[in-house]
Amino acid sequence: MIKVNESSKIFSLNTKNTQYVFGIDNEGLLRHLHWGKKINNEDELDIEILNEVSTNDPVYEITPEEFPVYGGLRYKENCLKVKFADGTRDIVYKYEGYEIDNDKLIIKLKDKYYNLIINLYYKVIEKQDLIERWVYVSNNSNEDIVIEEIYSAQLHIPYENLRFSNTHGHWAAEQQKFTQNVSYGKIYIENRRGISGHNHNPYFILDKNATETSGEVFFGALRLTGNFKGIIEQTAYGETLVQMGLNPYDFELSLKSKESFTTPSIICGYSDCGFERMSHNLHNFTKENILRKGLRPVLYNSWEATEFDVKCDEQIKLAKVAKEIGAELFVVDDGWFGERNGIHNGLGDWYVNEEKFPNGLNQLIEEVKNLGMKFGIWVEPEMVNPLSKLYKDNPDWIYSFDNRERTTSRGQYVLNMTKKEVKEYVYNTLDELLSNYDIDYIKWDANRPISEPGAKNLGDNEKNLWYEHIQAVYDIVKNLKEKHKDVLFEACASGGGRIDYGILGIFDDFWTSDNTDAYDRLFIQHTYSQIYPIKAMRSWVTDCPNFLSQRIIPLRFRYHSAMMGTLGIGSNILKYSKDEIELSKNMIEEYKNIRHIVQDGDFYRLENTSENDYHNFEYVNDDEALLFVFLPQSKVGHRPVRIRLRGLEEDKMYEFKYNGEMIVKSGAYLMNYGLKIHLRGDYQSELIYLKRR
Ligand code: GLA
Repeated sequence: MIKVNESSKIFSLNTKNTQYVFGIDNEGLLRHLHWGKKINNEDELDIEILNEVSTNDPVYEITPEEFPVYGGLRYKENCLKVKFADGTRDIVYKYEGYEIDNDKLIIKLKDKYYNLIINLYYKVIEKQDLIERWVYVSNNSNEDIVIEEIYSAQLHIPYENLRFSNTHGHWAAEQQKFTQNVSYGKIYIENRRGISGHNHNPYFILDKNATETSGEVFFGALRLTGNFKGIIEQTAYGETLVQMGLNPYDFELSLKSKESFTTPSIICGYSDCGFERMSHNLHNFTKENILRKGLRPVLYNSWEATEFDVKCDEQIKLAKVAKEIGAELFVVDDGWFGERNGIHNGLGDWYVNEEKFPNGLNQLIEEVKNLGMKFGIWVEPEMVNPLSKLYKDNPDWIYSFDNRERTTSRGQYVLNMTKKEVKEYVYNTLDELLSNYDIDYIKWDANRPISEPGAKNLGDNEKNLWYEHIQAVYDIVKNLKEKHKDVLFEACASGGGRIDYGILGIFDDFWTSDNTDAYDRLFIQHTYSQIYPIKAMRSWVTDCPNFLSQRIIPLRFRYHSAMMGTLGIGSNILKYSKDEIELSKNMIEEYKNIRHIVQDGDFYRLENTSENDYHNFEYVNDDEALLFVFLPQSKVGHRPVRIRLRGLEEDKMYEFKYNGEMIVKSGAYLMNYGLKIHLRGDYQSELIYLKRR
């Protein structure tokens, strides 16, 4: 609910449990007043008159502004910096009024002299305690206005000494969580690569000694793929600031007369009961508003089995075994097209390789369909190999600078997706593929970042190519989905390099990581789940020794680890023994019986109360629950552990099977005393299904 007090000019955004309040102060500045638990009567809030502390601490500097601009006596981080045609680099905004459009509040600001409109958007997502913020700027003057910096929002957290969490990592080591204390100075997280990357992720989590179930947490996730920046700063005036949005690094946008720009939005929230509520609110928001309904199929992907050495006959053999063990979707990965026998050729030439498919791709598709499976295919549409026909015919279709070498990475260049003809080519190629073949699933990869970012076609706005590139990707997929409604799209960028809220919803699934080691995955999946929904988390069972870790992990543990997300199998199943086939059949069948709980239920990261390295996760959906327990290595003592479940009903009874025995316990017992689990040995795991009686 949005409440406005016309006389005091106080705006209050109310969600189920939280309140976000700001107002217009005596200076005409948009001043942040409150974000957190409800204060109910916002009229109790005074917009205190701020006087400069000293000549070095001017009013602009000490005012907690909702959207500070570059101008006047401001030295703090700002959200908007522009250059007007006459050379003025200073904004003085004035409040012009507001508008309410259903669940959206729009605050209208305008420069005092120049015809620059700044509209701040606040969308109230009441049910999930979230506020979505973004900014619209419009050049209503007759001359150009150059935007040098624009962030989606500034957020104010009324504490010092918070903890900040985000991810770090690299290829095959995505979603590595780090937490650091915030003190004086600034923390920057960013991406400069044009894809979201494997290192920092576009979100922030700031907590005040929170646990999964207690303590205050402030968070926000940016709906942008690519070059973002986040700044976290504990100020000298007793609060912590966050800014997030487009990375100003190598960015500039010239708005011509009557042109406008809308920033990506940031979805922010507050929880006073720990990280679990944060995750649940974000997960539920995606389930209700972003993700496509319906359960995700169990897929088989042939990449790790055959790599580039794709042969129709062998793929058919794989498909038959995939069907036998229970896969529902067969995806042929890289290597099916052009002269794709390795990384150095083929990208750009999206025709079926006749040597590999002498009777055409339809032979495989028909076999797959006759087996009763869906069919999926891998593409990397933003890229081109220098040896390809596409590149030979169109050497000016990539990002490049005159007189500079065009750098290859993984033997490929990045296509200039901001060019109309390139965007059309990519759309048409994929549209033809989807129209000519019965394809249900696209795995869209992007294996290198952008370099030599020259795009003369953009004129003055060449430096906006980072943003335009990803907009072109979004547009193409949105348009393809308009026409080919049931096709699911998986976002992949050298593994989990494209996990963000910008692409989620446009794409349906994330490829989480090329690291398919079942133990490493527990950590990757744990961190992923903080912000992103389980339903979009693709997890595969692959062969051992794992190609990265060289670790040998029992197949059962590998299945359990992959069953925590949307299950896939990436092993060379032609080499499976009879026992492995049998185990796979059973595990996949079990997954199908429980996947509605995994994909649509509430996810809990349970506490480990033992010295032993237990990893415990729970899913709850109406009257059913699942408990996953992993013990990578049993240590001295080899004691049982008591795992306290969450999200059950205290006064209801739950029935489950453990160690071959049917057990009935109350929700109160399971949550407050806990379930005793005893695993011994290495890489042991359990999956327990609980049903409310
Ligand atoms: C990337 C992906 C892999 C696979 C290969 C194919 O690395 O992450 O899953 O698709 O490309 O070249």
